[in-house]
Amino acid sequence: MILETVTVRPFAAKDLPGAAAALVEVHDTDGYPVEGVEDPEAWIESEGVLAAWVAESGGKIVGHVAVLKASGEAAAVLWAELSGTDPAHVGVLARLFVVQAARKQATGRRLIEAAMAYARGRQLRLVLDVMTKDAAAIRLYERLGWQKIGETVHHFGAAETIPAVCYVAPTG
Ligand SMILES: CC(C)(COP(=O)(O)OP(=O)(O)OC[C@H]1O[C@@H](n2cnc3c(N)ncnc32)[C@H](O)[C@@H]1OP(=O)(O)O)[C@@H](O)C(=O)NCCC(=O)NCCS
Repeated sequence: MILETVTVRPFAAKDLPGAAAALVEVHDTDGYPVEGVEDPEAWIESEGVLAAWVAESGGKIVGHVAVLKASGEAAAVLWAELSGTDPAHVGVLARLFVVQAARKQATGRRLIEAAMAYARGRQLRLVLDVMTKDAAAIRLYERLGWQKIGETVHHFGAAETIPAVCYVAPTG
């Protein structure tokens, strides 16, 4: 377990290799993301990233989260249908991960709160899809007031599917 202070701060370009290494570690321990980590840097810096944050401890990147522009994600589509919200005012919380050694000390919570504060400042309503298997993440979102809005199936690989749940962030 990491006992040094964990700092949560905005992502900078120099963080990319460290964030990619952390993602590979999380894929080994948790199978996240399900589509694999063939090109971890491209997955982290994917198109549509509006803002991202990292958690750093002792000079090592130990966590990451991003807010993406909504672009057809199941939760974004569902929320637009349910609420009538203009998709331009919907953001997607994504790419959340914390390496095992830095868990259970509120690193994940602080990353999510950074994304939520950003969204509030820009009048963006955040939504997300989470795989049903990612129970720790689901507990965390619900503890932070996120509400389940539906279920979906995530498609990946050649023709694989995995069940997922859609959430919307609390207002205020
Ligand atoms: C989900 C994930 C990001 C959570 O990261 P984390 O840094 O452990 O998150 P937190 O520390 O904020 O909360 C996790 C738990 O630690 C507990 N905790 C927080 N601070 C604590 C402390 N000081 N002492 C003891 N427990 C603490 C929380 O209450 C929570 O408890 P729970 O598991 O019983 O619900 C991490 O497990 C992960 O990367 N999982 C794999 C990837 C994944 O599923 N991503 C989600 C994609 S949608």
